[in-house]
Amino acid sequence: MIRMNPLKFGIIGCSRIAKRSVIPAILESEFAELEMIGSRTVEKAKELAKELGCHKYGTYEDVMSNNEVDVVYISTPIGTHEELAKKATSAGKHVYCEKSSTYNLESAKSMVENAKQNNVRIMEGFMFRFHSQHKKVRDLIDGEKIGDLIAFNSIFGFPAFPKNDIRYTDKIGGGFLNDCGCYPVCSSRMIFNEEPLSVYYNRQSNDPETGVDIRGTSILKYKNDKVATLTYGNGNFYQANYEVWGNDGFISLDRAYSVPPDFVTRVNLQYTVENNWNGRREEIFEIKPENHFLKMIDTFCLDISGKKKSLLNFEDELLNQAKVMEAHRLSDKSHKEEWLSDIF
Ligand SMILES: NC(=O)c1ccc[n+]([C@@H]2O[C@H](COP(=O)([O-])OP(=O)(O)OC[C@H]3O[C@@H](n4cnc5c(N)ncnc54)[C@H](OP(=O)(O)O)[C@@H]3O)[C@@H](O)[C@H]2O)c1
Repeated sequence: MIRMNPLKFGIIGCSRIAKRSVIPAILESEFAELEMIGSRTVEKAKELAKELGCHKYGTYEDVMSNNEVDVVYISTPIGTHEELAKKATSAGKHVYCEKSSTYNLESAKSMVENAKQNNVRIMEGFMFRFHSQHKKVRDLIDGEKIGDLIAFNSIFGFPAFPKNDIRYTDKIGGGFLNDCGCYPVCSSRMIFNEEPLSVYYNRQSNDPETGVDIRGTSILKYKNDKVATLTYGNGNFYQANYEVWGNDGFISLDRAYSVPPDFVTRVNLQYTVENNWNGRREEIFEIKPENHFLKMIDTFCLDISGKKKSLLNFEDELLNQAKVMEAHRLSDKSHKEEWLSDIF
């Protein structure tokens, strides 16, 4: 049993994801505590604070300057993350920043640099990585159940967000590559456990009214001829799957990214025991429900407190992900394959 004083969280932005998933996870965590709610509108912060039984509320600046707050959770539009994260780290707060951390590599570098200068930590909130179903996939791969990895395919998309959503405003970091394309990008890096060599990105459609990207596909080349094919989109039948193809087997997940805390997930494995059609076997591993937001928050708090080092280096992860996202944007402009080695 690990004993530590819970870290006190201040919330920046009364967003839907904060209310639906992150604040409930903070309240459930034994290593975190809800200290203060911040909003652009104090009245809104007051209302949410009252609903949650939290005694402190105020503006974003009030949260950043509150001496009791250890960690700031930022869940505002992507285009506002850099400025807010840097204000928080400059005020000596650790930062849990929603994905995508930002919309260009320079800005990601500047966020991490600022955190390092102020001796605090910064994490991009890819909660899905903390779900045990991916650990099961890792164990199967490492146990050589599917042989050498050849390909990774993933689709993440959902029915259309309403037209007034933040995701349709380009100047605040809108567009669905930043919002949902980032998940399969992150999961391909997680499964191959390395960084891609190149990215070719094809923006399939834009929203006709606002011009933001709503659908796209990318091909990421990895070492030893491994490849990832990733498709994302807004305005589709809900899909959040991935498949890992090896020379001796195949693993698929139907619900890889946004998993509700009461949802049983399944890792589907097919593999060969003899090299003929009858020699194929299938196994399904049920993974019991768990809250990946809670696991991520616990991991972050334990690492910050020096109680348990995370296997992920949060800052390196943020930068590596930002670099691959940058390659997508460059490929969008050039219509060519972009090599990561050319991006600094
Ligand atoms: N990890 C996940 O599963 C997950 C899921 C969904 C979204 N997200 C990420 O979380 C963030 C928020 O997404 P969301 O869908 O929850 O957003 P949302 O409900 O639209 O809330 C965004 C909040 O940002 C604040 N804000 C600050 N500047 C704003 C501006 N110029 N326009 C509009 N709102 C502004 C507002 O809070 P105040 O009015 O209180 O200041 C608003 O409530 C995004 O980065 C998104 O990519 C993550």
